[in-house]
Amino acid sequence: MITASPRTLGVLISGRGSNLQSIVDAIAARRLDATIAVVISNRAEAAGLQRARAAGIEAVHLSPRDFPDRDGYDRALAQLLRARGVEVVCLAGFMRLVGAALLDAFPNRILNIHPSLLPAFPGLDAQRQALEHGVRVTGVTVHVVNAELDGGPIVLQAAVPVVEGDTVDTLEARILAEEHRLYPEAIRVFLDGGWAIVGRRFVRLAVS
Ligand code: GRF
Repeated sequence: MITASPRTLGVLISGRGSNLQSIVDAIAARRLDATIAVVISNRAEAAGLQRARAAGIEAVHLSPRDFPDRDGYDRALAQLLRARGVEVVCLAGFMRLVGAALLDAFPNRILNIHPSLLPAFPGLDAQRQALEHGVRVTGVTVHVVNAELDGGPIVLQAAVPVVEGDTVDTLEARILAEEHRLYPEAIRVFLDGGWAIVGRRFVRLAVS
């Protein structure tokens, strides 16, 4: 029997896992009231899997190569997450498009973090896109995932300045520090409820 609380998270990763770490740390520091039931990576070599294990969290490599197509893979992901009692899925550097099978299993229950102020610079290399465009301010977005790439309702955003002499690396590091602050905060807002999705907006309802 699954006895997980509605605050049970599943985290999907593909690599380093520093955002996963920020969620783990926020939970440990009681800044975030939640539990991570499972961390799943599509890549075996993802360092985030080690971070999960070090924190005593089940870490699973689920390879897309073991499935005939995206739908089959997403179905397997959804099954695994459901079997662990996961209520909310957090994408943390998960470098795959999320298909209908997973979206339908967790409608408006999947969050993603993106290193730009969406809708500017969606997709890959958002920091490089910002630098090459010449914007003075970029940032971080946490949004609800829907079928549109990096296009779902925005939960929280934070601005990060681009400074003279920035390289992709320096800008990425400044943005990453802000990601680590923002993601646990956005998950808290999401889990606390008192919000609705109205059109394409994530609307926080007034507290009486
Ligand atoms: C982060 O910049 C995140 O915004 C993007 O991919 C990167 C993942 O980094 N989606 P990490 O694996 O969490 O360290």
